[in-house]
Amino acid sequence: MKGEEWYQADDVAESYEDKRFSRGGRIIDRREKRAVLDALGPVEDKRALEIACGTGRFTVMLAERGADIVGLDISEPMLQQGREKARSAGVTDHLEWMRGDAARLPFPDDHFEVVFAMRFFHLADTPAAFLEEMTRVSRDRVFFDTFNRFSTRSLYTWALPMGSRLYSSREVDRLLSDTGLELDRAAHDWVFPYGFYRKIPNGIASGVRWLDNATGGTPLGRGLASVSYWSATV
Ligand SMILES: C[S@@+](CC[C@H](N)C(=O)[O-])C[C@H]1O[C@@H](n2cnc3c(N)ncnc32)[C@H](O)[C@@H]1O
Repeated sequence: MKGEEWYQADDVAESYEDKRFSRGGRIIDRREKRAVLDALGPVEDKRALEIACGTGRFTVMLAERGADIVGLDISEPMLQQGREKARSAGVTDHLEWMRGDAARLPFPDDHFEVVFAMRFFHLADTPAAFLEEMTRVSRDRVFFDTFNRFSTRSLYTWALPMGSRLYSSREVDRLLSDTGLELDRAAHDWVFPYGFYRKIPNGIASGVRWLDNATGGTPLGRGLASVSYWSATV
């Protein structure tokens, strides 16, 4: 598994959000949160599990909306960031943090209504095994994102500290059908890669985002999208 050790370091966990979601990266954070909300629909009183929840960007957001949520991650320092965020947001009663391995989920079958993972599958050496485990504990829906093979992302993947697994649409289709999941909705986004947004100020990023959306709306742009969001029913 890529990144398992990387995210165990305190300084990596402490700077995780600042490095990715400050400056132009704020647009990415907003878009990802929107993708999660769109996929999960109303979450009040819904039993949800977030795999590889990291610093709890989505866990806390969903707890604020009334979900009954568990955030699971293998890194204690990342979870610690999540705990602090939940305390500041005043939602500590609405969620549970759990240190654990996504390959062996400590829950019975069908335990949650929705199970999702963001920014996780690019780290996975054995995605089928993780997807099967997510599906096993979900009753209704599984949601995740992937970084795309035929996209601008492939240009700078080599520069990332632990590399990144990229997926073709065909590979994801196969993963879903092998797991018995039925694709409900897919969205493809980000012609310009994340790293580009992170380097520019927020004000300029809105203009770039406009261009990104306009390009992404064309057939060529769809083919170049660097991220896909997959929502499937169990
Ligand atoms: C790129 S971060 C994403 C965090 C969060 N999902 C987000 O989008 O901000 C990847 C996370 O996967 C976690 N992780 C890596 N391997 C894992 C495993 N086998 N089981 C659970 N979590 C894992 C890391 O500790 C890290 O927090």
